[in-house]
Amino acid sequence: MSEPGVVDPPPPGTAKPTMTSVVWPLMRPYRGWVLTGMILGGLHGAAITFQNIAPKYLIDDILVPSDQPAAAALPAASASATGATTIAKPSTTPAAPSAVAVGPITRQQAWSRTLWLCVIYLASTIILRMVVWHLGYRIFTWVRERVVLALRAQFFRHVNHLCLRFHGQHSSGELFSYLFGTPLNQVMQFYQHTSMHGPGAVITLITTLAIAARWDPVLTLILLATLVISAVMMGYSRGRVKTIYEAYQKAEGDLSGQVADLLRGNRAVKLYVMENHAATTFEAEALKIGLKSYERDIKSHIEWMKQEGLFYVSFAILMAACTWRYMDHRITAGDVTAFLLSFIALQAPVNFIYTGVTLWGGAQAGIERIGTVLAQASSTPDPVGEEAPVPPAGDLTFVDVTFAYEQQPILDHVSLHIPYGQKVAFVGPSGAGKTTISQLMLRLYDPQGGHLALAGTDLRRLRGAELRKRFGVVPQDPFIFRTTVRDNLRVAKPSASDEEIQRACEQANAWEFIKILPLGLGTRVGEGGSSLSGGQRQRIAIARVLLANPPFFIFDEATSALDTLSEDLIQKALERNLAGRTAIFIAHRLATVKNVDRIVVMASGRIVQDGPYATLVQEPGLFRELVEGQRLRG
Ligand SMILES: Nc1ncnc2c1ncn2[C@@H]1O[C@H](COP(=O)(O)OP(=O)(O)OP(=O)(O)O)[C@@H](O)[C@H]1O
Ligand SMILES: [Mg+2]
Repeated sequence: MSEPGVVDPPPPGTAKPTMTSVVWPLMRPYRGWVLTGMILGGLHGAAITFQNIAPKYLIDDILVPSDQPAAAALPAASASATGATTIAKPSTTPAAPSAVAVGPITRQQAWSRTLWLCVIYLASTIILRMVVWHLGYRIFTWVRERVVLALRAQFFRHVNHLCLRFHGQHSSGELFSYLFGTPLNQVMQFYQHTSMHGPGAVITLITTLAIAARWDPVLTLILLATLVISAVMMGYSRGRVKTIYEAYQKAEGDLSGQVADLLRGNRAVKLYVMENHAATTFEAEALKIGLKSYERDIKSHIEWMKQEGLFYVSFAILMAACTWRYMDHRITAGDVTAFLLSFIALQAPVNFIYTGVTLWGGAQAGIERIGTVLAQASSTPDPVGEEAPVPPAGDLTFVDVTFAYEQQPILDHVSLHIPYGQKVAFVGPSGAGKTTISQLMLRLYDPQGGHLALAGTDLRRLRGAELRKRFGVVPQDPFIFRTTVRDNLRVAKPSASDEEIQRACEQANAWEFIKILPLGLGTRVGEGGSSLSGGQRQRIAIARVLLANPPFFIFDEATSALDTLSEDLIQKALERNLAGRTAIFIAHRLATVKNVDRIVVMASGRIVQDGPYATLVQEPGLFRELVEGQRLRG
C-alpha cells in the first residue's frame, strides 16, 4: 500500500507509558547527580537511626550504671566516646538483671559520657541530618527542574508537530493542563517526595532493623512482621489510589478545555448573551471536579487510616512483647525504650513510603496521559528512509483523491492538474470542499485514497514543514498572534526589515491603517487580533504572504471582509506580484475569480466544472447558476 519513502502512521503502541519509559531517558544525563543525592539521602537516613537509638545508650550506659550502689570506676577504655563499646550483652540468667552487667560508674563518668553522647548526637543530626539533607535537596530540586523543562519542551514540540487530526480531538485547554496542571505536577511531586525521603527511609529501616536484631531477634521479627503487613496493605491501596487519580485528571483535562474555549470565545458569549449559561455549565463541570477531588482525598484518607489503625494494633502487640522479653531478662530497660522509640520512629519512613506509593498512583496516571500524547504518531508523518527534497516549483497534481476528516467522505475521487504559474479559482457552495482541497495541498492532512504530487513527487515523500515553506497561505480565518503588528508580519519572514514590511503592507493595502496606529508597527494587538477589524486582520495576513514571497499562494476568501474598492486595489497588487507563480483563489466573489486563468467549480466534494471564465459563463451548469443567482457576489 505504501510507496517508497511513504510511511503510514505506526499502529498505536500497546505498552502503556511508564515513569521509566518516559521520565528516565530525560533523567539519564543527570544520573551522577541523582546518585550523589541518593547517597546524601542515605547518610541522612543513617543519622535518623542514630537519633532513634541514642536514648538507649543514655539509659543503659549512663543512667542505670550511675544508679548502682558502691560505684567503682570503670577501666578508662570502657568509658569510650559513644558508650557503645561498654554495652555488655544482657545476661540471660534470671538472677542477674542485664543492666547490672555493665557495672556502676561515678557521677563524673556519667557526665563525661553524657557530654560525648550529646556532642555525637548534635554532630550527627546537624551535619548529617540537616546539612547533608539540604545538599541532597538542592541536587534533587535542580535535577527535577531540568527534567521538567525537558519534558515540557519535548511535549510542546511534539504537540506542535502533530497533525490537525490530533488537534481536532484535543482542545488547547486540555493540552495546556497536561503541562501546567495536575498530570505534570503529580509527576513532580512524586519525584520530589521519593528522591528526598526514599533513600533515607530505606537506610533508616534497614539499619534500625539490623541494630534491633542484635538486641533481640524475637522482637525484631515482630517489628518486621508489622512492616510487612503494612507494605502489603500499601500494595493494595496503590491500585485504588491510581484509579481515583486517573478519573480526577481526566475530569480536570475536560474542564480546562471547556474553560479555555469559553474564555477564548468571550466575545461570542457576550453576543449571544450566554453569560449565565456559560457560568452554569462551568459550575456544573467544576462541581464534578470538586466531587472527584473530594472522593480522591477521602479515599486516600481511608487508605491512610487503615495504615494508622495497623500502627496502633502493632504498638500494643509490641508493648506486650517487650514486657514478656523484659520479664524473661532477655532485654534491658534501655532496649525496651529503644524498641518502642524505634517503632514509633520507623513510622516516619513507613509514612514516607506510603505517601510515595500514593503519589506514585497520581504520577503514573499523569505520565500515562503525557506519555500517550508523546507516543501519538502524526497522521501526516515525516517520511522515513528516502525523503525527497521539496521541489522549488512545479505542477500540482491530484490523482483520484478521496478524503474524509472522520467517517463522512468529503472529497470524492478528485483529479486535477495545475501547471506551475497558473492562477486558479475554486468556487462552489459552502461546504463543497474548497478549503479541504487547500489543506491537502499543504499536507495538513493526507488523503485516504489516491495521492497528491508536486512536480511529480508524492507529497507524502516530502516533509510537511518544508513543503509549507513553499506556500504563502491566507486562510479563511487568519490567526493574529497576541503581539505587535511587526511580529505578526515577521511570522512569514523573521529577518524582514521594516522597509520590506512596509512595502508588503502597502501592496496589501494595510499600510494606511498601520501607519496611524499609536505605535505603528510596534502596536500590540489583542488576543487573536481582537483590537483590529476583520478587514484589517485579512490585510495583515495578505501582507504576511507577500513578505514571504513564495512560489505558491493560496488565498482562501482572503478579501471577503473588505469593501469592493479595497478588494479591487489588493487584487490588482496581487496580479502584479504573483506573475509567473501559482496562485489558488477560493472565493465567493465574482470580482476575485473573473481575471484568473481557470475556474474549478466544486459541489459535494467533486469537481463539476473546470475551465476559463468566458467558457463557463456561457455553458449551462452550476457556475452559471451561481453567477445568475448572484451566489457569486459581484
Ligand atoms: N476539521 C474538520 N473536521 C471534520 N469535518 C470537517 C473539518 N473541516 C471541514 N469539515 C467538513 O468538510 C466539509 C467541507 O468543508 P470545507 O471547509 O472544505 O468547505 P468549503 O468548500 O471551504 O466551504 P466554505 O465555502 O463554507 O468555506 C464540510 O462539510 C465540513 O463540515
Ligand atoms: Mg472554506
